[in-house]
Amino acid sequence: EKVVLAYSGGLDTSIIIPWLKENYGYEVIAFCADLGQGEELDNIKEKAIKSGASRIYVEDLKEEFVRDYIFPVLKAGAIYEKKYLLGTSFARPLIAKKMVEIAEKEGAVAVCHGATGKGNDQVRFELGVKALNPHLKIIAPWREWDIKSREDAIDYAAKHGIEVPVTKEKIYSRDRNLWHISHEGGDLEDPANEPKDDLYVLTVPPEKAPDQPTYLEISFEKGVPVAINGKAYGPVELLMELNRIGGANGVGIVSMVENRLVGMKSRGVYETPGGTILYTAHDELERLTLDRRTLKFKHEMAITYAELVYDGNWFCKLRYALDAFVEETQKTVTGTVKVKLYKGSCQAVASWSPYSLYNEELATFGASEMYSHKDAQGFINLFGLPLTVQALLERKIKGE
Ligand code: ARG
Ligand code: SIN
Repeated sequence: EKVVLAYSGGLDTSIIIPWLKENYGYEVIAFCADLGQGEELDNIKEKAIKSGASRIYVEDLKEEFVRDYIFPVLKAGAIYEKKYLLGTSFARPLIAKKMVEIAEKEGAVAVCHGATGKGNDQVRFELGVKALNPHLKIIAPWREWDIKSREDAIDYAAKHGIEVPVTKEKIYSRDRNLWHISHEGGDLEDPANEPKDDLYVLTVPPEKAPDQPTYLEISFEKGVPVAINGKAYGPVELLMELNRIGGANGVGIVSMVENRLVGMKSRGVYETPGGTILYTAHDELERLTLDRRTLKFKHEMAITYAELVYDGNWFCKLRYALDAFVEETQKTVTGTVKVKLYKGSCQAVASWSPYSLYNEELATFGASEMYSHKDAQGFINLFGLPLTVQALLERKIKGE
């Protein structure tokens, strides 16, 4: 019987291979999703086979990731607890989906992941699998084995002849993809510690960014970013370019204490340079093109959307329904936003759109045909009627 393992090439998922063979007697099919994690993918195929996998799939999912996972969340404007741009959260369901596909193709009976029993990722992987193929058995070694530390893991690797990369002591738990890198653990576990400058991978510390601002013009079509400074880009290249420019300006660093789904608070540091630029620009374009009611409703539903994504409910009815709402709102979110990057800050400073609802004639302080100052008087009288009635009553009670 076969099991499909979500494999990263790191120490943990490497020792899972012999562990699965020893404890379940399964043949192990490794699967590695390329979501833009970069250098971590070097030699992954040899590594998996050397560790005892019978086969490895490495799939370039970057385009699908950006198009079908990142952009819908961007269009929704979803942000978890006001700060987290969900970079790990929406990567897990895509990995789950591919795991299920490979398991079905290979006729595997089980899937396996390397997330711990204390975090969000286990939930996201497993809800994804349950939503797409409830018949697959799910194995989470971290909830079963007695390996408790990195030292245990290294011992286990040595006993099973698995080469441990002789890199320097791994301090942080990190997750990187095209959208972001997350950092947890080590000295960050105490929220009283400020992140050290050498933590950052995608960005320079803001103080070390250039002394001159960088201006960018980001163009959107129906809520999807399509061009930088007038030059068209595909989704993957666009994000890579914005990561480069945003990173060089120290943009998109967030340090936060967040509420994990499993009940505890955790402290994380995130770098989301390109994503921060895109959220800033997209938000500004909606201010220009959406009416007040729609904008407010959208802001409210974005909180729910973010929670669904954070909690691993990617493949759920409500998210699909919210997507349909978002899609309707994005029909006019076409246009360009000029963004100013400067030492870690990212500000929308100008915007224009063929669907702009901004009417200069209306907004101007000069005379206008469409708006009569006299109308405002009657409007305020009626709009303020409940307040007037209330005040009259209060005065009457007080005997005034
Ligand atoms: N706290 C973030 C989240 O829940 C990041 C998790 C990072 N995962 C990891 N395996 N390092 O989405
Ligand atoms: C893990 O526990 O595997 C990583 C952190 C998380 O899932 O929240």
